Amino acid sequence: IPVDPFDCVVFGGSGDLAERKLLPALYHRDLDGQLPDECRIIGASRSEMSDREYRTFAKKALAEHVGEKDRPPEVVDRFLKRLHYRSVDAQSDKGWADLKALLDQADESRIRAFYLAVGPNLFCDIAERLSSNGLVTEKSRIVIEKPVGRDLSSAMALNDTIGKHFREEQIFRIDHYLGKETVQNLMVLRFANSLYEPIWNASHIDHVQITVAESVGLEGRGGYYDRAGALRDMVQNHLVQLMCLVALEPPAAMEAGALRDEKLKVLHSLERIDETNCEQRTVRGQYKAGVADGAAVPGYLEDLGNGDSTTETFVAIKATIANWRWAGVPFYLRTGKRLPQRMSEIVVTFRSIPHSIFGAAAGTMRQNQLVVRLQPDEGVRQWLMIKDPGPGGMRLRHVPLDMSFAESFHERNPDAYERLLMDVIRGNQTLFMRRDEVEAAWRWVDPILEAWEARGTKPQSYTSGTWGPSASIALIERDGRTWHEPQ
Ligand code: BG6
Repeated sequence: IPVDPFDCVVFGGSGDLAERKLLPALYHRDLDGQLPDECRIIGASRSEMSDREYRTFAKKALAEHVGEKDRPPEVVDRFLKRLHYRSVDAQSDKGWADLKALLDQADESRIRAFYLAVGPNLFCDIAERLSSNGLVTEKSRIVIEKPVGRDLSSAMALNDTIGKHFREEQIFRIDHYLGKETVQNLMVLRFANSLYEPIWNASHIDHVQITVAESVGLEGRGGYYDRAGALRDMVQNHLVQLMCLVALEPPAAMEAGALRDEKLKVLHSLERIDETNCEQRTVRGQYKAGVADGAAVPGYLEDLGNGDSTTETFVAIKATIANWRWAGVPFYLRTGKRLPQRMSEIVVTFRSIPHSIFGAAAGTMRQNQLVVRLQPDEGVRQWLMIKDPGPGGMRLRHVPLDMSFAESFHERNPDAYERLLMDVIRGNQTLFMRRDEVEAAWRWVDPILEAWEARGTKPQSYTSGTWGPSASIALIERDGRTWHEPQ
């Protein structure tokens, strides 16, 4: 279904995110016939560039990030004609009048989406200049990428500034994990099946693991990453959001207000990790040289070119949620760079059976597990015990009931940004973070950061291509459990 006509201004329009994600995502929506003819996409950043040069830049981006069979020349041409470029300086008045003149060519009722694909240090400047230059109309929306702040107080200050110029329903805080197909599927799995919900609680679930592993290293983002680290870059947003979706109560409807209210309750119930328990509950790691994706790779400090950095590239956390549903059920979270493979999954381990009637000869009894694979090879696996076929007596085996997205559906799996960008245009905030959620997440993360600081907790080094420091294994094994081995 086509969306309403819109103009999308991408600040940082010639940057990495625009090139890899935003332009390809908008293109795919155009290819699927979702963009009305009048839609325009306007790249904006400080460098000088003509519309023509921007179209050449975009054409190259599509050639690199969109498969050839999805690039029929007439659709590529149609898309490129939508593109414009204006040189605009976030920190001075330069270029704003030009950008306004271009936007004012359309009538005032057209949707305007301002996408801030720039460093977080420019968010406030841009929001203020959009407003002082009269670019913010009733139908305008602003989209900001994470990180929203680097702690609670900076997040509040940022939210305050943006909130002066845009109403909360105009502010779209992106967490691209919420746009991933399998993440949305988590809601369907839980609330469109009668099977799981009755047992989705502490009486039946032993523990939950959430792993977001990456094999890549710094990827040239040292300037940002070294100030952030894995806790701010990945846990405060992506992993916490995933944990909320696993843990939340059934929302009244799949609708922004209801869903975000329920996530907020989970965030408020997270048990505090601070100086008193951070040693038992958290592990910090930093990768050193090793082998990743089959090639020798340097360590973090060499990647960064700074031998002193104590930024973590790996975190493992034992989180607990103090409410009726989850009392006593640990949520083990881990994420890191330069791990053995790119793999994100949520593993729900059910409690052991109360008593086995099969005797020792039947082999080892294993707990049921539900594995939701977010990427790659998106799918859902329910592990069950079954009888080994054949006449050799009663021997039991742990086997998966398997649902692979690639095998079940033959369509292209759309990128998270495609869904999220169209939701911005539609004004649907269900998959975006509300102000109070972001701040509640920082309220949980800040004491961890402070505890590391106060205790001088340095990251433990781990070899690139391994699953992080051995302390991460100890974190879960202390509780008599093990990390799920990816299959
Ligand atoms: C981003 C982080 O939000 O997510 C990056 O800033 C990380 O450090 C990326 O690499 C991972 O996203 P995905 O979709 O590739 O899992």
